[in-house]
Amino acid sequence: MENFSIKLSSNENPSGCSPLIKQAIIEAGPVYSRYPQQNIFRLSKKIANQLNVEHNQVLLANGSSEALELIIRTFNARDCEVILPQYAFAFQKTICQHALLFITEIKTNNGQQDLAGILNAINKNTRFIVLTNPSNPLGSFIKFCDLEKFMAQVPNNIIVIIDEAYYEYMLEPEYQTAIMLIKEYKNLIITRTFSKAYGLAGLRLGYCVGQQQLIQEINKIKNPFNINNLAIIAAEVALDDEHFMLKTRLLNQQGLIRLAKAFDEMAIKYLNKSANFITIDLEQNAKLFADVLLKQSIIVKTLDEYDLPNHIRVSVGLSHENEIFIKAMERICITGVNDVTTFAVL
Ligand SMILES: Cc1ncc(COP(=O)(O)O)c(C=O)c1O
Repeated sequence: MENFSIKLSSNENPSGCSPLIKQAIIEAGPVYSRYPQQNIFRLSKKIANQLNVEHNQVLLANGSSEALELIIRTFNARDCEVILPQYAFAFQKTICQHALLFITEIKTNNGQQDLAGILNAINKNTRFIVLTNPSNPLGSFIKFCDLEKFMAQVPNNIIVIIDEAYYEYMLEPEYQTAIMLIKEYKNLIITRTFSKAYGLAGLRLGYCVGQQQLIQEINKIKNPFNINNLAIIAAEVALDDEHFMLKTRLLNQQGLIRLAKAFDEMAIKYLNKSANFITIDLEQNAKLFADVLLKQSIIVKTLDEYDLPNHIRVSVGLSHENEIFIKAMERICITGVNDVTTFAVL
């Protein structure tokens, strides 16, 4: 696919995916003409081994968004409510709306998902709580010790879903996956994806992990062929390619530091620097900035749908892409967003 733009809008991996994947697909058997079968089992087992759980605790899905959809469809009932933190990832809300769930949104507290507020909001209709750790678009994360305390207080008839889409990028010592809590809590499900650090957004593969009984229930309604052979082969290779993951993390850390430094120098406020993106507060209509950037083929994410009209979310790109974006922002800051005369910098 020819593409001369700099796409910093969807938190994809700017380096692509493991270079070993292409060859593995070429060498695989009849990946195009046959339904996926044994290889589904093989991949679930591989993921389970890495996570230290049983293979039947892992359910593969067409992206983690499908995993969330399946969880909600499986356990939804009439008049049920879901509790979401304010600024929950937009598609989570869409899924819940389409499932006709009553949605209660709990205001964030200092940019954090407010676990105490969520606990307070629990009532007899509450069926689901969806957390995102780290949060997109806030970039903040819930400390493991807080999650532990939270889970201990949630009644076990409420299903807690924790979206860990950015898990692989998180290097902060206080951040930990909640997967080790699954043993203790039969009402906990974690979703993960190959779309972010593994660089496989286009192949659509995610999964959820929970206790066997929960996963069994979801399996009952799942299309047996919800994922495809190419994605399975790619994921198997990706899980083994530690070198690519190390490179990805390093590049991302350097990018986060570089972008944050540039924002500091431009006196642009930002929320947090974690995962693979930074959400900045431009203190005026962000769409103007996004439009000027777009004219220079730089695509960023405006956050109107989150009710954050002054904010832009910028994904970490390759280092030269970050530099082009920074230069463009510097020029806008000097000239003013209304007066800037745009010209291509690519
Ligand atoms: C928090 C979060 N969850 C889920 C997703 C979607 O992931 P997938 O491609 O696995 O459906 C995204 C994508 O941006 C995300 O930011």
